[in-house]
Amino acid sequence: MSETILDVINLKKYFHPSGPFSFFKKGDNLIPAVDDVSFYLKEKETMGLVGESGCGKTTIGKLILRLMEPTDGRIIFDGADILKLKKSELRNLRSQMQMIFQDLDAALNPRMRVRDILREAITVYHDFDYSEINKRTSELLNQVNLKKSKLSCYPDELSGGEKRRVGIARVLAVKPRLIIADEPTSALDVSIQAQIINLLSDLQAKLGLSYLFISHDLRMVELISNKVAVMYMGKIVEMGLSDRIAQRPMHPYTNVLWSSLTNRGEKGISNGLTWQVFDFERPVTGCRFHPRCEVFKARGNPKECADPQNEPKLTETGTSHYVACHFPLAL
Ligand SMILES: Nc1ncnc2c1ncn2[C@@H]1O[C@H](COP(=O)(O)OP(=O)(O)OP(=O)(O)O)[C@@H](O)[C@H]1O
Ligand code: SF4
Ligand SMILES: [Mg+2]
Repeated sequence: MSETILDVINLKKYFHPSGPFSFFKKGDNLIPAVDDVSFYLKEKETMGLVGESGCGKTTIGKLILRLMEPTDGRIIFDGADILKLKKSELRNLRSQMQMIFQDLDAALNPRMRVRDILREAITVYHDFDYSEINKRTSELLNQVNLKKSKLSCYPDELSGGEKRRVGIARVLAVKPRLIIADEPTSALDVSIQAQIINLLSDLQAKLGLSYLFISHDLRMVELISNKVAVMYMGKIVEMGLSDRIAQRPMHPYTNVLWSSLTNRGEKGISNGLTWQVFDFERPVTGCRFHPRCEVFKARGNPKECADPQNEPKLTETGTSHYVACHFPLAL
């Protein structure tokens, strides 16, 4: 059986609100962007992390890489508590964990040619000579199916799919074991999206990589993930094997998300739910989903759903299937 490579335990990140007059708000209206999140990832496994814009997906990725410090919680990578590592030890860790960043353009320096982007990544942790750099560059181009002629291009001269391949090659250059892929298919044509997913799957099989795959594209998540965690307003509300989450969801939110795939309206999700950017400054008491929950309405607004003392906890309900709801849908 494969080993656990990543264990995230009760992770929290509360932000101070920004914007006009935010100074006066500090202290009381903190934004719980990641609120008591726990999950684990095994070697060579892919976990999909899904949820609407602003629910906290990227923040989780950045916390795991220690690009920002958590408010609370633990992150164990390969048996080591990474929040206790010194700066010098972090350097070694960074070569083992990498992130494919959400923003395709911000991820690549527009003033560097592909050749230099890759060389910089290849030599960041190792002193290689000229011929070793060339050898490794060719290997990376091969791995991501990019033509050698693209080495002399600037990012602006590449298509979206090619940019994404360069971004993946750059990440592979340091030989990571865990990759956090943050919306790696966003802003790409549908056919290119499938190519990138296939590429990531092939690389996983060849190199034994583990992925945390962040997306709000449920089809892509289903294609690549062994298991899925569904986030809502900073919390995981359901987690389990991806087939089961897609076909037999137990949380009303997951149910609406996936049923929208077969029944998508013009402007987002059908069944009365529209894609939403969360307003964390208007806190909801009890279950954070209750103002939008059909089950809550159908059951006549049960008081436990809105009870501030009774926020539903993620609970195991079956084989490795977890749900945070007082009235989960029947299996
Ligand atoms: N540095 C920051 N300072 C203050 N608030 C932040 C910061 N970074 C993120 N947030 C807030 O935290 C919440 C979660 O943001 P995050 O970027 O993790 O969402 P996301 O799920 O990745 O969204 P998207 O799907 O749009 O990428 C949002 O409300 C966001 O505004
Ligand atoms: S706890 Fe209540 S409001 Fe929340 S998802 Fe379950 S049924 Fe809906
Ligand atoms: Mg994001």
